[in-house]
Amino acid sequence: MSESIFLLAIESSCDETSAAVLSNDRVLSNVIATQKVHEKYGGVVPELASRAHQQHIVPVVQQALSEATIESKQLNAVAYTQGPGLMGALLVGTSFAKSMAMALNIPLIPVHHMRAHIMAHFIRNTSDQKVPEFPFMCLTVSGGHTQIVLVNSPLDMQVVGETIDDAAGEALDKAAKVMGLPYPGGPHVDRLAKEGDAHKYVYTTPSIAGFNYSFSGLKTNLLYFLREKNAQDASFIERELNHICASYQHVVTEYLLAKLEAAAAHYNVRQVALAGGVSANSSLRSKLTRLCERRGWEAFIPPMGYCTDNAAMIGISGYYQFLQGHVGSWNDVPRASWPLEGSLR
Ligand code: KG4
Ligand code: ZN
Repeated sequence: MSESIFLLAIESSCDETSAAVLSNDRVLSNVIATQKVHEKYGGVVPELASRAHQQHIVPVVQQALSEATIESKQLNAVAYTQGPGLMGALLVGTSFAKSMAMALNIPLIPVHHMRAHIMAHFIRNTSDQKVPEFPFMCLTVSGGHTQIVLVNSPLDMQVVGETIDDAAGEALDKAAKVMGLPYPGGPHVDRLAKEGDAHKYVYTTPSIAGFNYSFSGLKTNLLYFLREKNAQDASFIERELNHICASYQHVVTEYLLAKLEAAAAHYNVRQVALAGGVSANSSLRSKLTRLCERRGWEAFIPPMGYCTDNAAMIGISGYYQFLQGHVGSWNDVPRASWPLEGSLR
């Protein structure tokens, strides 16, 4: 058997500073420092995110190496998130990864954050683990992106549908904010919805052609509904919180899965996956399982730890790019906006 490739991966696109060490497709360590500083502002403050990344990056990388019991001189490459994300946040990870790769004289691998969410399915947790076969259809849902991606190979991905305005995570986070819930609101909506009636209130989704989504109208729909109810009864939101969360989450998840189902059927794909932060949503996870049972398809749902931002997913993406010789150069710069399909050309 060939020798292991040891890879250090760094993620700093938004409000998580993370470092991981991989041995081929296995994760030896995956350290995540979540920035609490944003909570009181109800959203990520870019300048504070960059400062927090600067404070966290050295200890997080040191911890990742020490948990993996790997010394930096054993590393074969450094993978990092080149984009998309917040420019100041990306700069911290990019600069750190460059300096480290340069000092060690090893390749630097630029990784696309949304591709990495998808590639998290290929992290080998157990030797008998089932991974998706190509091609498969992946619904990638995070705080900043919502896409349906036809995954032909680790490097060949095609976006077949996407949101034309807000992302699904944003739609959940903004709705949560209107209801007075802390940031990020997605996990709170998920928790509160468990005790609510998903059919008590009806919110509507716009009809958009093809496999694209639109979430901005849905959010406005909820906002007007709450304003009207609140004007009649100031305790409405507090009293009905579980039902509102359940009904809103219901419409978001049904909408997401209806388009995913249509896209998978259209492309005649029988393996369907979830990726990104919103794939931690319990309702979305169980609904996808049921959809695949009904259709005779196979569902791939990432382990909870690999749904939200983490460096292990950057590492697995970097590993497959490394195998194909897709390494970067010292001149590479962070890319705040970066189309998924163009990222490996
Ligand atoms: O992938 P991610 O960690 O960061 C981005 O790349 O954006 O996704 C963060 C998003 C947030 O919108 C957050 O509210 C949402 O994922 N999220 C959830 C849950 N856990 C995280 N949304 C719904 N239910 C959850 N359990
Ligand atoms: Zn993400």
